[in-house]
Amino acid sequence: MKKNTKGIILAGGSGTRLYPLTAVASKQLQVVYDKPMIYYPIALLMLSGIKEILIITTPYDMPNFKKLLKDGSQWGIKLEYKIQEEPKGIAQAFIIGKDFIENHQVCLILGDNLFYGKLDFLRNGIANNNGGTIFGYPVNNPKDYGVVEFDSKGNVISIEEKPESPKSNYAIPGAYIFDENACEIAQKIKPGKRGELEITDMQREYLKMNKLNVVTIGRGIAWLDTGTPETMLEASTFIHSIEKRQGRKIACLEEIALNMGYLNENEYQNTLNNLPNCLYKDYCNMVLNEYTKA
Ligand code: TTP
Repeated sequence: MKKNTKGIILAGGSGTRLYPLTAVASKQLQVVYDKPMIYYPIALLMLSGIKEILIITTPYDMPNFKKLLKDGSQWGIKLEYKIQEEPKGIAQAFIIGKDFIENHQVCLILGDNLFYGKLDFLRNGIANNNGGTIFGYPVNNPKDYGVVEFDSKGNVISIEEKPESPKSNYAIPGAYIFDENACEIAQKIKPGKRGELEITDMQREYLKMNKLNVVTIGRGIAWLDTGTPETMLEASTFIHSIEKRQGRKIACLEEIALNMGYLNENEYQNTLNNLPNCLYKDYCNMVLNEYTKA
């Protein structure tokens, strides 16, 4: 991994499609089977070796995110928080995050995107990034996403945001890696038709400089987004099926912290001491028993 890549999770937005759930709590605090949605992108960043993460939320939801996630030290990571006053676009994350990013490479994950499978694609993307790295994932509803078009040699020809007539079925998932110029480039772009700073415009800037790498990922990875009641239920069912079959949890942040060496055994035990008695804690204890036997 490149030294000191920082992570940002964008967890604002209006969550209109999930109303009335989102009338009182942000989308990323809603449940995906047995944990809050935001655990999944945090897990992804932790598993990619990223230990400094900025959470961007709405003014209304920030206190609840802080209550849930605290400063991250319970998982051996560092969490910071910033507010996005209004959902003015994904690319705005790099402007809001300017002081946090400093001169580091940054990996932005959308708070409602869930990845499962072999996560090397992100780790390799981070290690090999030279400018910007995004991913292409085949879907049957590309209209709902940013869409990337390739020529026969795999070179990127175009990137379009939610096109009426998509030029390919490759959607761009909500995981983006940009070099230390991300903030400067986000400041350069203008709001698009929706009045938002579009992440696709930022990608096009990198493309113009010949510095955009698009890596296709396929069936080995599940990419789910959880923006509607139906996709939220599908994500819950998906996580439930795997957890039930294996008896292993997906995105248990305590377990990841222990396995990644972010917490040693004592620190892990201290973290568990602060959990209420529940099935989640039983699982974390089981993980510790296994770990000490290994
Ligand atoms: P969307 O799903 O496009 O938007 P939304 O969350 O506001 O939901 P809806 O369309 O139902 O109103 O956003 C994708 C992710 O990015 C989601 O995690 C919210 C986040 N987001 C922000 O935090 N700020 C923004 O300005 C935008 C556009 C999105």
